[in-house]
Amino acid sequence: MAISSFLCCVKGSDRKKQGKKETTWRIFSLKELQLATNNFNYDNKLGEGGFGSVYWGQLWDGSQIAVKRLKSWSNKAEVEFSVEVEILARVRHKNLLTLRGYCAEGQERLIVYDYMTNLSLLSHLHGQHSAECHLDWTRRMCIALGAAEGIVYLHHYATPHIIHRDIKASNVLLDSDFKAQVADFGFAKFIPDGATHVTTRVKGTLGYLAPEYAMLGKASESCDVYSFGILLLELASGKKPLEKLSSTMKRPITDWALPLACERKFSELADARLDGLYSKEELKRVVFIGLICAHNQPEKRPTMLEVVELLKGDKEKFAALESDEMFKSPPAAEDSCESVSDEEQKHEIENV
Ligand SMILES: Nc1ncnc2c1ncn2[C@@H]1O[C@H](COP(=O)(O)OP(=O)(O)OP(=O)(O)O)[C@@H](O)[C@H]1O
Ligand SMILES: [Mg+2]
Repeated sequence: MAISSFLCCVKGSDRKKQGKKETTWRIFSLKELQLATNNFNYDNKLGEGGFGSVYWGQLWDGSQIAVKRLKSWSNKAEVEFSVEVEILARVRHKNLLTLRGYCAEGQERLIVYDYMTNLSLLSHLHGQHSAECHLDWTRRMCIALGAAEGIVYLHHYATPHIIHRDIKASNVLLDSDFKAQVADFGFAKFIPDGATHVTTRVKGTLGYLAPEYAMLGKASESCDVYSFGILLLELASGKKPLEKLSSTMKRPITDWALPLACERKFSELADARLDGLYSKEELKRVVFIGLICAHNQPEKRPTMLEVVELLKGDKEKFAALESDEMFKSPPAAEDSCESVSDEEQKHEIENV
């Protein structure tokens, strides 16, 4: 079935039913997107990910867009693309990046989103904006809560439920008020088969992967919870999910943070760029929640609904968390550093 006809028959009625963040989406012509992005000019390029390049653009009405241009395509994936776009177009939440539409002409597959003026969390923590220190503690807390609420919606309220599979700092975008907008949900399935691509994707999420997902490839809600835990630790400490210790060794953020949390050394855990300006209670909360989310055993991880309650300061739940076995005594030091190949490092540099 052609994508446009498949979508046209569902969008009208569904749009009326949506209560939240009502926005219309539409089909764009290739010509319109070429005009908006100056023919996908290199100067307009915002970055590149597993699916292709993302370009900044401006429509005739002055509104700014981000256009994701899928880099490879096959006929086999056509139906899947239409189904996914249809699902994503219906998902509306204040903390999920709004899909403005898509373009499917010839071999071209393009997805159009709202442009996020403050780019990604990654760019503020470790990238081009990291020196500017835009992320004070209040903003970090709002981003943590906002991103968590977006994921709660995907896990518990979207129909069908959506597992993100790629929660990470470059997929948490920031609007003009630094409000979190979780991006790229539901597109994991789009990755075409092919060794290089699959490898690239695993590398792209290096440091965020739940162990059972990395080893057995089993994706579930709790894999997203794990990745979100890593993101919380990253947000509080300003450290990368994997810290480079030498040219070949990297240490997971959890291995660094857990002993410090057990010894209640929160000032050592806080991002130095905060200059001591943070709420100690909230920092403690974020670190403990981050660590329990990133527990190696999936059954020990909370649901995203519980994460939101904890982040909001549910005292009873937090007291139970704080007294968990995990935080009683520092774990015995063991060499859990991961060896990282040159190629993997290169990819990470490209990603930042
Ligand atoms: N709507 C948007 N507004 C502003 N910047 C965006 C937008 N969408 C994506 N970007 C930026 O463009 C770059 C490429 O995004 P893309 O999603 O393709 O790759 P990624 O997030 O690094 O990896 P992945 O493919 O796993 O999502 C990233 O830096 C991302 O933050
Ligand atoms: Mg992305």
